[in-house]
Amino acid sequence: MNHKTPEILRTRNELHVWRNQQHGSVGFVPTMGALHDGHISLVHEAKATCDVVLASIFVNPTQFNDKKDLEKYPRTEAQDIALLSNSACDAIFIPSVEEVYQNNVASLDFNFGSLTRLWEGKFRPGHFNGVITVVSKLFELTQPTVAFFGKKDYQQLLVISHWTKINQLPIAIVGCETIRNHEGLAMSSRNSRLSEVEKTAALAISKSLYFLRERKGIDSLQETLAFIKNQFIEPAGVRLEYLCCADSESLEPFKEWPSGSCVLLVAGWVGGVRLIDELEVN
Ligand code: PAF
Repeated sequence: MNHKTPEILRTRNELHVWRNQQHGSVGFVPTMGALHDGHISLVHEAKATCDVVLASIFVNPTQFNDKKDLEKYPRTEAQDIALLSNSACDAIFIPSVEEVYQNNVASLDFNFGSLTRLWEGKFRPGHFNGVITVVSKLFELTQPTVAFFGKKDYQQLLVISHWTKINQLPIAIVGCETIRNHEGLAMSSRNSRLSEVEKTAALAISKSLYFLRERKGIDSLQETLAFIKNQFIEPAGVRLEYLCCADSESLEPFKEWPSGSCVLLVAGWVGGVRLIDELEVN
């Protein structure tokens, strides 16, 4: 399908002018670039419910607890613009670090109890402070009606929803399904750093979640977690950080299978690449 070329906005001022021209609902898709089908599905979801879609491409320095990870983060601007041009996106905000942070590249401190303390919060200290800081700046600049986030970063989605709610922001937060390749690997910008051998090893991550879901309420949760580590994770050479079954809202881990819904979360390293995944279970 042919789409109108999106407007490229690089400064606060250009964004401000564009935003003031919009009279309907604005769907916002914040990204760090290196776009893939997961991001494009967010744009489609935004287009289906909003009058216009604004995406942003900004590699946020304050959410990287590891400097090397920030340096190695893939940057593919021309390719990203081409992908967004084919996906019904109306405008793309591509600011510099100075444009977003002005002269203070620092994050504020947020503490939402278990939501920011567990899982990613534990293994990536300061990560959510950086995420909320940049999302708050982007929201202030873009004034969206609805903002779209992928469920692969399930904890990020909860943290942002919680922060938006307690600040009573007039912005609806929508979580969109994780998009996977045909073998089950969750789409991630970091996948581009995996070799073919590592891509095969990485399949142990999604397979673990599917296996765990299959055994819900049948085998003991703890025994199944141990089995998965021995049978899937270790043989694939994945260095596991966490694999858990948690409450879908508080993210507190369950020791035994709950009778109701839960979320399965995993993070691990494949070579030098850290991957995360999620699966919601009813
Ligand atoms: O999920 C991401 O790509 C980032 O964490 C976000 C939400 C764009 C903030 O930098």
